[in-house]
Amino acid sequence: MMGETYDVIVVGGGIAGLTAALTASQRARVAVVTKGAVDDGATRWAQGGIAAAVGTDDSPDIHFEDTIAAGRGLCDEDAVRVLVTEGPARVRELTEWGAAFDSHDGVLVAAREAAHSRNRIVHAGGDATGREVETALVRRLRHTGATVLENRHVTALLLDDDGRCAGVEVRASDGSAPAHILGAGAVILASGGSGQLWRNTTNPASATGDGVALAWEAGAEVVGMEFMQFHPTALAVPGAPRFLISEALRGEGAHVIDARGRRFLFDSDAGGELAGRDVVSRAIWEQLQRDGVDHVLLDCRPLGKGVEDRFPTITATCREHGIDITTQPIPIAPAAHYQIGGVRTDVRGASTVPGLFACGEVACSGVHGANRLASNSLIEGAVFGHRAALGALEDIAERPALPPRARSLFVAAEAGGRPDDSLVERLRDSMWDGCGLVRDAAGMRVALAAVEEIAAATSASASLRSVRLHQSATTATVTCRAALLREESRGAHTRSDFPSTRDQWHGVIVMHKERGHRFDRHA
Ligand code: SIN
Repeated sequence: MMGETYDVIVVGGGIAGLTAALTASQRARVAVVTKGAVDDGATRWAQGGIAAAVGTDDSPDIHFEDTIAAGRGLCDEDAVRVLVTEGPARVRELTEWGAAFDSHDGVLVAAREAAHSRNRIVHAGGDATGREVETALVRRLRHTGATVLENRHVTALLLDDDGRCAGVEVRASDGSAPAHILGAGAVILASGGSGQLWRNTTNPASATGDGVALAWEAGAEVVGMEFMQFHPTALAVPGAPRFLISEALRGEGAHVIDARGRRFLFDSDAGGELAGRDVVSRAIWEQLQRDGVDHVLLDCRPLGKGVEDRFPTITATCREHGIDITTQPIPIAPAAHYQIGGVRTDVRGASTVPGLFACGEVACSGVHGANRLASNSLIEGAVFGHRAALGALEDIAERPALPPRARSLFVAAEAGGRPDDSLVERLRDSMWDGCGLVRDAAGMRVALAAVEEIAAATSASASLRSVRLHQSATTATVTCRAALLREESRGAHTRSDFPSTRDQWHGVIVMHKERGHRFDRHA
């Protein structure tokens, strides 16, 4: 069914999507489409904060060096330069838009996190940064003329006869209404990541990888999908969700210990708790295997009683699970956390499909390389959300939006609710067991066969529940293929059968639905 036409459609309501929408709505007719409520995504869950060179002892150059070092040789230096240079202005803009960051005497208080050489993590409400940012952005959005379409699942990107992205096909998320077509001069994909493809994740239920699948089906290049970042410290209590235990706790002095109370992280890196996220996650994983246990411990007692004021959300959540963090260590284990790869974009946020832009976790701008520096994701969302909006505005200035004469890539017809639970669980178990924090070829082949089978089983049916699972299985398939191709260990991609970093893999794997893959070597 034909629907309305907008200048710009933004898919997603996190920091990237809302920054894009707020920027674009100053000059264009904008619609924001979100799968659940507009504020339901991963941004709201962010704790640690926003990395930006705001301190007097800091500079974009030092932030640049730290980001490049964390990225293990694969960062796109131009994109990192943009990130660190424009980051402080975007933090100021968020403040102007109403986000109240923690400050003292009018000066922002910045915290330290692993692999940052300066205190540069701006936060709000102690450990409730995402909630504050999301609330401010949504409040601001309500005062613009932007249309907000909540509880809509995007089932396809629409291409016109010239192969340009000209809109989206949506369904009510509960499958209760027929497909609806929204036309657009340009589409900005900001739909977040894919942590829910793994059995254990810190991500919200909405992070099912739809965005990469949408762009893939539309013919966009996808890059870096082998780099799924596993957060080292997620709550590991039987039956409880893997709630994030912020890296900022380690930044302020919490210790990672084994059951005997030993700080084993120093065995693998002199940085101990403040080593890079890839190093810490791997060391914890290896300790779990060595001891045959399902968790180690994060001891916050060195922080004293002040920990409750600085980390109120973590304190309260742990208390709900019977843990008093001022007197008891927290059981923790790694969990899938952040999709580093995604839809390939340039520094304007443009994908390789004309009219399609991407920003935030669904995109791969190249700023994170092989290993994202802690708290560089919210700032990436703000910087590249802003840029994607400017890119889209420039693009549509040359070509106004027309009512869509576009073909759908996937026509969803039947009503249907949640995907078949047993297949969803099979997908998540397969990814965790075969394409997890430490992988090898044999395990990845098993995972790949399983997710390909799920993708095939869901491609013929046109019910919404199948479309959703098909999108997840498509993204999982691309992830497994990329991980199998990269025969080395680097950053977030650890292979037990190729444990070393190898010079021949100093570059990125670019994948395309029709053209297969190619390797772009870094200079
Ligand atoms: C955290 O607070 O540890 C998460 C920050 C991040 O993932 O960047």
